[in-house]
Amino acid sequence: MTDRSPRCSAAASCTPAQIAASALTRYRDLIDDWDAFVAALGRPLAPCIWANPTRISVAGLAALLAEEGVAAEPLAALPGALRLAPEARIGQHWWYCAGLAHAQELVSQLPALLLDLAPGQRVLDMCAAPGGKTAQIAFALGNRGTLVANDISSDRIKALQGNLDRLGVINVSTTCKDASNWPLRGGQFDRILLDAPCSSEGTLRRTPSLLGRLGPENAARLAPKQRLLLEKAVRLLRPGGRLVYSTCTFAPEENELVLDAVLAAEGEGLRLLPAALPGIRCAPGLTEWQGRALDPRLAGCMRIWPHHNDSGGFFIAVLEKPAEVAANRQGHVPVTPPGDPAEIAPWLEGVASRYGLPEDIWSRYRVHRQTKRGLHLSAADHCPPRVPRPEASGLFFHRTNVRPPKPTTAGALLLGREASAHRIELDAEQRDRYLRRETFAPHPEQLAAGAYGQVVASYRGHVLGMAVVHRSGVVESLFPSRWSGCTAASGGQPSAASPQPPAASN
Ligand SMILES: C[S@@+](CC[C@H](N)C(=O)[O-])C[C@H]1O[C@@H](n2cnc3c(N)ncnc32)[C@H](O)[C@@H]1O
Repeated sequence: MTDRSPRCSAAASCTPAQIAASALTRYRDLIDDWDAFVAALGRPLAPCIWANPTRISVAGLAALLAEEGVAAEPLAALPGALRLAPEARIGQHWWYCAGLAHAQELVSQLPALLLDLAPGQRVLDMCAAPGGKTAQIAFALGNRGTLVANDISSDRIKALQGNLDRLGVINVSTTCKDASNWPLRGGQFDRILLDAPCSSEGTLRRTPSLLGRLGPENAARLAPKQRLLLEKAVRLLRPGGRLVYSTCTFAPEENELVLDAVLAAEGEGLRLLPAALPGIRCAPGLTEWQGRALDPRLAGCMRIWPHHNDSGGFFIAVLEKPAEVAANRQGHVPVTPPGDPAEIAPWLEGVASRYGLPEDIWSRYRVHRQTKRGLHLSAADHCPPRVPRPEASGLFFHRTNVRPPKPTTAGALLLGREASAHRIELDAEQRDRYLRRETFAPHPEQLAAGAYGQVVASYRGHVLGMAVVHRSGVVESLFPSRWSGCTAASGGQPSAASPQPPAASN
């Protein structure tokens, strides 16, 4: 790959001179206001977060952030979201570790909004990791039913699972496959998101060092893969279903040209719908590129340049399969959850009685033994795909292969809110020590509650995870070492032992 321009350092923003010497100049005639585009790329990008609807309202989150001294402003176009100051370090805050919010760039939140989601739909997220859009879709489905989140990379699936665990998402099965080889015998979906791997030109504000590596050769390498993925998505969509194709790149070769080829091949079997979102400024999709006329319907796509909404860049197309097209009726059928219910029941009774959980708690979930390590739970009506075989369904909530058995952090975050026993409420200093995995002394009134052994630890009523209260008068944090990059709200640095907080999404 040719290095066309001086590289921006990872920390600095791109300068006008660097942009003028880069491959971005091939878009100059497409952009309504080149100077505004260049100026936007020169500014750092302010992070956005959305409130986890199962844990807090956006007004509640805004009020909490104000008390914590974190500046946040509502985003009119995205009612559940807030924009923070560019220097905000999101993963460092206790409320992030408690799964009250998820960090996701403004433009990255848009494709899921165009899927026209409703509970009861069966949805496939074909290229899902690290899972910001998966979590958005999961909550739009009411955290019930079936969403299949696939990615080709097993490491990235782990990051995705970490995000779903922190947020308490229980209606997702994950699969790890090349989505262009997804088996048709697994049946069709009501909604599909194809957030395709791309050259990521639209992420320059977050990763300025990309600038020197841009060029049409990236698009030439990626476009055939994107076309294969989109062709497979069309096959997997049920008649009457909706498919959203998105990328975070400006390159027409990865956007309109991919769609143009697939629309031509599908003929009457695929429609492109005009896409728009109130309060989001965008340019129409291209209907001509380098002298070549494209399908005129492509004007209905959304091309979002960074200066339009002070965001990153994005491209979105909304497609629909006409209801008259013949369906692949194989579909998903419920599979018997793995594990022996008679073996599982005593574990569930044990957890419910120790933590004083409501009597009907397990009727809300599908509990299964997926591994020897312990128990998973998912939404009661979740229906994992038979093919391809899922990596996991729902979240791993109870470890049974240790003595004594213990709820996982994901389990505590999900179920601990309803715990009426063996629970301690931490003060701010204890909270910070807890998140740094340090031991600390309990206050006498915390011991008076008689909560010895494993307890659910919370702060301001929001569960942080599990702890052990030792009779020696010490509280031991069981916060996972791999999550302990989320340290004190007071702006503490990630611990050296575990540098990565749960991944934010682009
Ligand atoms: C743009 S990222 C997806 C971001 C994600 N949708 C989110 O919102 O967090 C593209 C993803 O596609 C995955 N990928 C690349 N090729 C793939 C393929 N053939 N099948 C499935 N996933 C693929 C990459 O591993 C990467 O995680």
